Amino acid sequence: MTKELRVGFIGAGLIATYHSKSLRRSGIEATHGVVRTGVYDPDTARTEAFAAASGHTAMASEQAVLDSCDAVYICTWTSEHRRLVAAAAERGLAIFCEKPLAISLDLAREMTETVLATGVTNQVGLVLRRSPVYLWAKHLIDSPDAGRVMSVVFRDDQFIPIQGHYSSTWRADKRLAGAGTLLEHSIHDVDMLRFLVGDVARVSANSANFHGHDGIEDVVSACLAFSTGATGVLTSVWHDNLARPSLRRVEVFCERRHIVIDGDDWFGPVSWVDHDGVTGSLESDELVAAVVPLRDGTDNPDGEFIRATVEGRAATPDFTTALRAHEIVDAMYRSAATDGAMVMIDDA
Ligand SMILES: NC(=O)c1ccc[n+]([C@@H]2O[C@H](COP(=O)([O-])OP(=O)(O)OC[C@H]3O[C@@H](n4cnc5c(N)ncnc54)[C@H](O)[C@@H]3O)[C@@H](O)[C@H]2O)c1
Repeated sequence: MTKELRVGFIGAGLIATYHSKSLRRSGIEATHGVVRTGVYDPDTARTEAFAAASGHTAMASEQAVLDSCDAVYICTWTSEHRRLVAAAAERGLAIFCEKPLAISLDLAREMTETVLATGVTNQVGLVLRRSPVYLWAKHLIDSPDAGRVMSVVFRDDQFIPIQGHYSSTWRADKRLAGAGTLLEHSIHDVDMLRFLVGDVARVSANSANFHGHDGIEDVVSACLAFSTGATGVLTSVWHDNLARPSLRRVEVFCERRHIVIDGDDWFGPVSWVDHDGVTGSLESDELVAAVVPLRDGTDNPDGEFIRATVEGRAATPDFTTALRAHEIVDAMYRSAATDGAMVMIDDA
């Protein structure tokens, strides 16, 4: 008989709801003995709505949730992650923590050391690592036909998420969010730049703050030099154009192939043009089918977390992967603080 795996949630907002639904969609609950236990959010109405919709039990404290489960989702705003990860690791629980890990690099490092020391299965919400779009783009890049990556242009813009369907207030408060568009949103992009092209050797960045929320930058433009010799630029913008919720456009220039990601983060399309004039484009079901052989396991981040926990193995992407992205983000902030001076990534 399958052993039980008791799963709890701390935080019952937007992303907690996403993971709860995704866990349901993964179809893994019955096969891997998932039992939904406690959920806690200081916003009682949210706790109760989440419990009613998901089958979790509304609880009155973080401790009650931690005591109720073997694996916990930490889906609070960012400043709470460190304390909750420490409490969960102390109990030996498997941990899914949302990105960014923490409001600073030092705290992200401390958290990574904590989970590594306890050896618990750990995973981070850098979900684009499982996106068909980015898996296919990586496949196109890694093919010998493409030649080496020469340069990448990565643009990410969305309306500042203190409005619209996010309607969060904490993203305008640096004590809770740590910083603005680069840390809170584009840490995904930095992670994808590493995933697609490789390690980053040095950066130079400029930032701006049009909205005027203290410590919450809403524009970052960064130049990257990769260890491979490739170069890149990242532009991250939080504007007030509610017609643009979250949109990425990525162009990768290889020696003999040009690749464009433009559209949905998951379903594409991804298009390419080769030196011999051959072109291609994949999206939706065709794209999903094309990446099946490229996957190490499931396309569902929550299915991966449960499977890795039950199998007692490391999950991906883990805290170590997230820490690498934090290091680059931190280097970009340090550069922006010194008017775009060059910062080596190993300089920390
Ligand atoms: N992976 C992704 O693509 C993605 C997308 C959105 C958000 N996030 C991240 O997820 C986290 C939450 O974002 P969100 O959009 O769900 O925000 P949200 O505002 O919808 O929900 C956050 C919730 O945390 C609760 N909370 C605060 N302190 C708590 C505590 N000590 N215990 C329990 N609950 C607590 C708040 O009351 C709130 O309901 C953030 O770190 C954010 O960066 C990741």
